Amino acid sequence: MNNGIGKKTVRDIDVHGRRVLVRADLNVPIENGVITDDTRIRESLPTIRYLLDQGAQVIVCSHLGRPKGPDPALSLAPVAGRMANLLGQEVLFAEDCVGPKAEAAVQAMGHHVLLLENLRFHPEEEKNDPEFARQLASLAEIFVNDAFGAAHRAHASTEGVTHYLPAVAGLLMEKEVKYLGALVANPPHPFAAVVGGAKVSSKLPAIQHLLPKVDLLLVGGGMANTFLKAKGYEIGASLVEDDLLDAARAVMRDAETRGVELHLPVDVVVASRFAADAETATVPVGEVPAGWLILDIGPETVRQFANALQRAKAVVWNGPMGVFELEPFASGSFDLARAIAGLNAVTVVGGGETAAVVAAAGLQDRFTHVSTGGGASLEMLEGKTLPGVAALLDA
Ligand code: 3PG
Ligand code: MG
Repeated sequence: MNNGIGKKTVRDIDVHGRRVLVRADLNVPIENGVITDDTRIRESLPTIRYLLDQGAQVIVCSHLGRPKGPDPALSLAPVAGRMANLLGQEVLFAEDCVGPKAEAAVQAMGHHVLLLENLRFHPEEEKNDPEFARQLASLAEIFVNDAFGAAHRAHASTEGVTHYLPAVAGLLMEKEVKYLGALVANPPHPFAAVVGGAKVSSKLPAIQHLLPKVDLLLVGGGMANTFLKAKGYEIGASLVEDDLLDAARAVMRDAETRGVELHLPVDVVVASRFAADAETATVPVGEVPAGWLILDIGPETVRQFANALQRAKAVVWNGPMGVFELEPFASGSFDLARAIAGLNAVTVVGGGETAAVVAAAGLQDRFTHVSTGGGASLEMLEGKTLPGVAALLDA
């Protein structure tokens, strides 16, 4: 049976006794040498464990940050340590991802997991240089792409390498594409999209792609300001994209034509300035004081959004409802996260900031799927084909 993603996965090939190169997205936040969020490392473990159980030799590679060349601050060495702890077994580390150091490490790895140094220490990685891709591929016999968070990049380790090795999806990649692609393309109804975040401009393609598929569209976050202004509300000194007022009007008209129930904020948390210690108030959308900023949705909006979502059988959520990093403007995002987590529905969270909201609220286990991708999950919601997925063998 087709797995719904249209691509071969690790389950479809025999890896026993083979050297397998796994591209993971181990691009985790590191502050002063300390990993502050290891979600992406943990999410990469099922594929690694599966391959080990099948008797494969597992070589893992990833990028970290955006170095312009070798940069000790962006070494993956600390990730090897954390991966070993989480895996409960030793993880060897190679100081380069290609060339003599990588080759020697592969020769010596035996049945240990081997993590290669940051791919982006070589500019050829991002250039998708064929010779670099060939060198990387030469370390293994099979390629597994589990780096959903980097699948929107056509780099040597996500695309180039597939020209030299049989290439299949890892288990995380499969799960991500299933929930952000297959589910969104063919959802159970009623299907709801909740979109937020600062800017309409960054979410417009996703909204346009989702509109024909959804029954409910809920808009919050800074981007709702542009919709409110387009409807004639005074929004004070709030963030707005004046060049997109017509686009917002078009979305509202399109929603109406298609019979999509569109919800905008009815009340908002406003502040005298953009700061945690600013003067704040909760007001109906028609009463934003001149010079003040809308920084969160209000409690009545949360109530209405939660109510509307009650009938949804599937919900996809991308973008926070307010400036959740600042405590006075976090309730909208956290309360909505709790409401969505409590639904009897398939609940999918696009990655990046929205995943951070869910993690900060401690709710990650109460969603059906929380994406590990930021840009990649947004591109999936835009209906784009990701180069890292397209390059894999068809099922
Ligand atoms: C991410 O964190 O968004 C992914 O790891 C991709 O990283 P990039 O945006 O630097 O390509
Ligand atoms: Mg990014």
